[in-house]
Amino acid sequence: MEKKKVLVTYNMWREGYAELMRKYDVTFPSEGVESFTYDEVLAMIADYDALQSMYDFPVDRRLMDAAPKLKIVSNYAVGYDNIDIPYATERGIQVTNTPDPVTEPTAEQAMGLLLAVSRRISELDRRLRIPGGVKVELLSNLGHTLYGSTLGIIGMGRIGRAFARRAIACGMKIMYHNRHRLDERIERQYGAEYVSLDVLLRNADVVSLNSPHNSETHHMIGEEQLRKMKPTAILINTARGALIDEYALAKALRDGEIWAAGLDVFENGNFPVPELLALDNVVMTPHTGTQTVEVRHEMAAHVSRNIINFFEGGDIDKVNLV
Ligand code: GLV
Repeated sequence: MEKKKVLVTYNMWREGYAELMRKYDVTFPSEGVESFTYDEVLAMIADYDALQSMYDFPVDRRLMDAAPKLKIVSNYAVGYDNIDIPYATERGIQVTNTPDPVTEPTAEQAMGLLLAVSRRISELDRRLRIPGGVKVELLSNLGHTLYGSTLGIIGMGRIGRAFARRAIACGMKIMYHNRHRLDERIERQYGAEYVSLDVLLRNADVVSLNSPHNSETHHMIGEEQLRKMKPTAILINTARGALIDEYALAKALRDGEIWAAGLDVFENGNFPVPELLALDNVVMTPHTGTQTVEVRHEMAAHVSRNIINFFEGGDIDKVNLV
């Protein structure tokens, strides 16, 4: 029987793909090329049974229309806002994601950003390198203590809870807002109070975004929401950039409406709006929440496993019901 054909859009270390490569005919970009372009994938996809897409690779109607044999899109991410899910479902294409490998590392990134922001670590590191850049006085360069403060999590899913565990270890209290209230048992486990978005924004010392991006959550933090937050509040975003209106955030940070922010994601890929670049009270990383050696191997194995189990039977991380 002819081997199934799998197209991987990005050049990855091959170890995690070993089993997939043994079983199927897998195409990666040539050595030295980072990734296929959209047009290259569009030109090739007709022959493929499976596509392994990156989180920022658009799997849209046009691409799926060019893919009569396509049965599964195995997305290399927990998020899947790069994929037209309703159309994939209509076409009977299974979409899968990678929740397991990304949960703990993304929460680590959120905690890293929070510590860097609350104790001004990046700013002071930058200034320390400039002669005369830092004055050490008891009342200068003050940060905010996390111990005893309240973390408000918007989206208390797997990553939200993993961040909550770290925050609890730092002595923080947890409140959360979700579309659906969690089981009482889980609330008790985290000592987490369920509140409306309004109450969370007004009362949390740290607001963390851990929601997926979709039409309902697009720009969920804008001028109006930022105005409700405390002037001492910190905003952390390790989910998707488009949850925030970045221009409104830059203005709120500049005008002292909120105290600081830590951002790993931006609406325009890895490019924050220029207004943010000029500010000292924001720490930014270029979507590196899962950028560790371990995660790269684990995610490769995970996307492969989703494809193998889809064709051969076994558990997969289903995003849609087809
Ligand atoms: C990363 O952004 C992911 O969605 O896994």
